[in-house]
Amino acid sequence: MKGSIPMIDFHCHLLPGVDDGAESLAEGLAIARQLYEAGFTTVVATPHVLEGRVMLTPADIEQRVGELNRALKDAGIALNVHPGAENHIFPAMAGYLQEGRLLSAGGKGKYLLLELPAWEIPPYTEQVFFELKLAGVTPVLAHPERYPALWEAPGRLGQWLKLGVLLQIDLRSLSGHYGRLAKEWAQELARSGFVHAIGSDAHSPSHRQNPYRDELDKLQSLAGDARFRAMTEDNPRRILLGEDLPSPAEDILREDSPRTRRKSWFRRLH
Ligand SMILES: [Fe+2]
Repeated sequence: MKGSIPMIDFHCHLLPGVDDGAESLAEGLAIARQLYEAGFTTVVATPHVLEGRVMLTPADIEQRVGELNRALKDAGIALNVHPGAENHIFPAMAGYLQEGRLLSAGGKGKYLLLELPAWEIPPYTEQVFFELKLAGVTPVLAHPERYPALWEAPGRLGQWLKLGVLLQIDLRSLSGHYGRLAKEWAQELARSGFVHAIGSDAHSPSHRQNPYRDELDKLQSLAGDARFRAMTEDNPRRILLGEDLPSPAEDILREDSPRTRRKSWFRRLH
């Protein structure tokens, strides 16, 4: 990777003992060390939150993030952990967030990382996005490249972009970890300017040497230096600070946009 840009991993399950991610503090620290060695200086801890099943409270998550930050300092790993959650979509999300029962990205109440079920797009999805926007909260959709239901209906993603939904892609999608179609989608999205953040989505320490380096190089070559920096540093930093971001979606989805003329893939989003 060119230069040493302080990067932000926006999606990671390194908080120990709370979900299907790191099982112990040692595993959490091992994930953190690999991220630091790949060039990350900040990571958002995003444990799974499933309404009615895994209902970690914002206070639980923030307390555990504090403990992990102290352990990282003791271990000499210069990585900062910020609180977050990967919230599985459910109809009452916007209300839960307003009642303080869900944790927004960085805890600033402006952006919410959410995921869809693996195999279907629930009928209330657009309603949840709309209600969140109405409440002043911007949804950030986790790994849109990995949902088979979207591969079948890319126009849905186009609709969501028009609603102002931001996208976070998983680094390992770029190397084919989740299959051919996820790879194709991640690559197209990386080129597109639709992506505002990237994530390791690490659940355990990688067995690979220098994990994430190849994917970061690939991302940089696909997106170009300016977009790479925006996705890995500037935009996730602004999200964590709760600052406003311009949505590129309207411009990109216009029929006469140079990008839609050039790339037939984007036409599928209409
Ligand atoms: Fe995840």
